[in-house]
Amino acid sequence: MNKKVLIIDDEEIIRLSLEEGLLDFHYDVATAKDGKEAIHKVYSFRPDIILLDMKLKNENGLDIAKSIKEIDDYAEIIIMTAYADIKTAIKAIKLGAIDYLKKPLDLEEINISISKAMKNQSMKKKLQLYQEKESKEQHQFIGDHPLIQATLEKMDILAKNDSVTVLIRGETGTGKEMVASYIHHNSPRKDSLMLSVNCAAIPSQLLESELFGFEKNAFTGANSSKKGLLELADGGTLFLDELGEMPLDIQTKLLRFLETKKFKRIGGLESIEVNLRIIAATNKNLEEAILKKEFREDLYYRLNVVPIIIPPLREREADILKIAEFFLNIYSHRFRKSFVAFSEGAKVQLLNYHWPGNVRELKNVVERMVILNDAKILSLDHLPIELRNNTLKDEPIPQDALLNFGFSLENTLSEIEQRYIKKALHQTKGNHSNAAKLLGISRFALKRRIEKYFE
Ligand SMILES: Nc1ncnc2c1ncn2[C@@H]1O[C@H](COP(=O)(O)OP(=O)(O)OP(=O)(O)O)[C@@H](O)[C@H]1O
Ligand SMILES: [Mg+2]
Repeated sequence: MNKKVLIIDDEEIIRLSLEEGLLDFHYDVATAKDGKEAIHKVYSFRPDIILLDMKLKNENGLDIAKSIKEIDDYAEIIIMTAYADIKTAIKAIKLGAIDYLKKPLDLEEINISISKAMKNQSMKKKLQLYQEKESKEQHQFIGDHPLIQATLEKMDILAKNDSVTVLIRGETGTGKEMVASYIHHNSPRKDSLMLSVNCAAIPSQLLESELFGFEKNAFTGANSSKKGLLELADGGTLFLDELGEMPLDIQTKLLRFLETKKFKRIGGLESIEVNLRIIAATNKNLEEAILKKEFREDLYYRLNVVPIIIPPLREREADILKIAEFFLNIYSHRFRKSFVAFSEGAKVQLLNYHWPGNVRELKNVVERMVILNDAKILSLDHLPIELRNNTLKDEPIPQDALLNFGFSLENTLSEIEQRYIKKALHQTKGNHSNAAKLLGISRFALKRRIEKYFE
């Protein structure tokens, strides 16, 4: 298919001669004499490349370029300008035009500029595809464990049934928020918002007004009324994270809302009705909290209609390696490294570790290992200390064994520190700020260590 070029110029003679010339180069060509016609053609003709004159009769080419970019970011704009107008042309480049050509125009030059613009366009397309793929990968829920497979099936059913309340349970880092986001983004509510609130992070008074909103003068400082998350998420999903930490009085209000779909803003008289789905998550033992009277039993039953329980990572061994390999692949690509697999020794240690931070910890560990090293095989030496010094899980470490081994924590730690500092400095070509960032310490702390070890 021929590429499509739109010529925008107020001078008929230029439009005609350019059109004729470009047809010879096998482009499809359309023309426009002013901004209005140009916008119309952008919609109807869908050009790949636009040749835009900077000075039209009563219009400024810059304004036209801006309008075009707003409606179609895909088309590449090439500016045509008289010599005296170079400053404006540079402004246009800043607005997103890709090149400028000086008048009088030379067809050969125009053709080269169009070819360059097309190359740029296809690179942009590739990058976009890559980014889409990457963001999909980022949201892929990995796992072969039967409980994870069952969870995946449940997630699809829950996505379709968008009035059902969901309660997701699991330790920190097991993917609760990811599950909530999957359910929302695959549900009929996906074009509306999913808003989140972390019940543990907000003081109780604020949490109440965050959720339900308030009327003007509802309390001191309420100078104007404000919508709460229940109203803002109308049509979509509200994710109540760390639900176990929600204070009892707010639990009562939430239960009333779940039963009636109505609520009142703080200080308000009017009942407001909204249509949203609540997805809640917690890593707290709610049954215990009910016994301690910290969590309402009726709210628990109301929310727990379809529970999703994500087992901790240490209980699904096959998934540890699968997830580790998945992230090794992603980060290796992202940081342009050559890792393709884990050594057998590294695999054993990954399996032996108890992963208190679950998938989040595993993901971070793999990212760190990839950033700091480079090889084809990720081996024991590359593993961070907490994994390398790890004995079989759940087995207490006999103190004598360590003592007989001549183990000195201080020596070992400083050796490891030195190695990582060297690697980080190598990786960042000696840039202290970046190396400190990579190591997760302050620049000052890095400087102190460099002085200690290397000076
Ligand atoms: N099965 C999985 N496959 C791929 N990535 C996962 C999986 N589970 C979790 N992750 C990733 O692990 C990280 C932590 O997940 P998420 O934030 O959903 O956990 P969480 O249970 O909400 O944790 P917290 O209780 O600490 O809030 C995210 O980056 C997520 O993408
Ligand atoms: Mg979370």
